[in-house]
Amino acid sequence: MWLRLAVSVFNSLGPRLQAIFDVIAFAQQVRCYDRVWDCCCDHGYLGMSIVNAALCEKLIFVDQVPHIAQQLERQLLEQPLLYPAERYEVLTSDASDLDFNSEQRHLVILAGVSGKTVVDIVRTIRKTHPLGNIDFILCPTNALFDVREYLVAKEFVLLSESIVAEKSRHYEVLYVSPGDVESTGSQLTHTGAMWDEKNIEHQRYLARIIAHYQRVVEGGNDDRAEGILQRYQSCFSR
Ligand SMILES: C[S@@+](CC[C@H](N)C(=O)[O-])C[C@H]1O[C@@H](n2cnc3c(N)ncnc32)[C@H](O)[C@@H]1O
Repeated sequence: MWLRLAVSVFNSLGPRLQAIFDVIAFAQQVRCYDRVWDCCCDHGYLGMSIVNAALCEKLIFVDQVPHIAQQLERQLLEQPLLYPAERYEVLTSDASDLDFNSEQRHLVILAGVSGKTVVDIVRTIRKTHPLGNIDFILCPTNALFDVREYLVAKEFVLLSESIVAEKSRHYEVLYVSPGDVESTGSQLTHTGAMWDEKNIEHQRYLARIIAHYQRVVEGGNDDRAEGILQRYQSCFSR
């Protein structure tokens, strides 16, 4: 029974959530977060895997929709051996309204929501907790250039970045910190430094982005589009 449940949870981590899980596992070895926040958690698969693998002292599931959070909490409580209650909390909240204990180190995960939502949440968290030890793993569903543009403007430092393909879609996983580039990471760029010209999935992803911005340029409604297009067109020639 437990084996079946465990298998069903781990089967449900597709390549995208698995890539994020792997970054968290790495992050915990090097930066040791006290709290990991699975924000916009919905089904909670990522957080459940983290709790089950005991990757952190406490994982906080956050979703703004009450019935989603309630259903997830019921599911977790039904399986205490897989998800020991002392290792997690479930909050019904807008991820912008969270309260972070400034004496702890925090890792906030925002995945499966739009780039605009990601930027809105990160911006608000930074505003309400300017001195907090809060790093982020971001995996938006769209508008990666806008997300990166915001992070570059706010001088976030890059800890890791990657591209992951799932069901004919592509995602970027950005692990970033508001910390100091000298001591913690590298310079974040507007289009990324992770491109591998020989990787077929990178080729497909880049072709899709370029086609998107070509359409935007042709539409003539966005003054920035031509410049963004040129940046992406040079990704493989660096
Ligand atoms: C598509 S699911 C993403 C689930 C999971 N993170 C993933 O990547 O597979 C999006 C979830 O984000 C929640 N959500 C959207 N905006 C939110 C916000 N500002 N604060 C908290 N939850 C939010 C929605 O209620 C929904 O359950």
